[in-house]
Amino acid sequence: MSDVTPSDEPAGSASPEDGPTAGQRVGVVHYRGRFGQRMNAWRKRTPLNPYWLDWKHLRESVEALVPHATGTLLDVGVSEGPYREVFAPQIDQYVGLEYPAAILDKQPDMWKLKNLSRLVQVFGDGAHLPFRTGSVDTLLSTEVLEHVPKPRALVTEMARVLKPGGKLLLTVPFIQPLHELPSDYFRFTPSSLREFAESSGLEVESIEPRGNFASANGAMLSQWLTRSVGASKRQSDGSVILSPWRSVLLLPLTAIIQVMFHLASKLTNDQAVCQGYALVARRPHD
Ligand SMILES: C[S@@+](CC[C@H](N)C(=O)[O-])C[C@H]1O[C@@H](n2cnc3c(N)ncnc32)[C@H](O)[C@@H]1O
Repeated sequence: MSDVTPSDEPAGSASPEDGPTAGQRVGVVHYRGRFGQRMNAWRKRTPLNPYWLDWKHLRESVEALVPHATGTLLDVGVSEGPYREVFAPQIDQYVGLEYPAAILDKQPDMWKLKNLSRLVQVFGDGAHLPFRTGSVDTLLSTEVLEHVPKPRALVTEMARVLKPGGKLLLTVPFIQPLHELPSDYFRFTPSSLREFAESSGLEVESIEPRGNFASANGAMLSQWLTRSVGASKRQSDGSVILSPWRSVLLLPLTAIIQVMFHLASKLTNDQAVCQGYALVARRPHD
């Protein structure tokens, strides 16, 4: 097992007890009540989820990164660790890092999770990682870069803690509604990702789009309908609360739209617009 040694003075460290005792976890869409939450979990993997096209392409994009992971993997901005199990067979150790300031502000209910210590092993700021230079085999960060005001600095910091030969695995959005406001600063192109990686001393191995013009349009159309017709309330972080009956009535329509655009994405492959990108970059041996 690789030995990851946090430096002596973790940046921005905090404990869950520092968090608020009340609050509501907010996501892109928040369903009311337990029934809604159970429905959401079941629908997630089917076109009955109005965010299915988004979820599916991101999931596939992350799964394609798995063969690049080795040894100890540090997931910067791990949140609830949606990819922990995906990487588990490939690596020795999964270390999740979260930024207390972001959780306190945007996901206060995370502090109340009984299994928080299993989700998050290190608290700190991704821009000042509490790890020694050259100590980590694999750096993973999914859909985090757009939430930091200085994304190049975050990439440079992640490159710093990589071992020579270690890999940085990133996913970023290209088309996505504003979310986690006000901390939503950027969308990215392949050129910006390449520039961030190369100016941080990394060698780019690949930059792959996820989805294409057709799937991005399907995802946006489904989300637009959901947000404009299905929402009963808009939240200040950019998410919406759905009206249960209106969203149920919309489900067949958003399902058909997503399936149709999914089929269209198989027939046409214009990637001038896509849903996001995945970068693989390597820290060269000295
Ligand atoms: C859109 S969520 C993505 C979460 C998770 N990686 C995923 O793919 O589901 C963005 C995450 O970035 C985290 N974050 C924001 N600023 C950060 C920073 N400076 N350092 C580390 N994480 C940060 C937030 O707390 C949030 O969990």
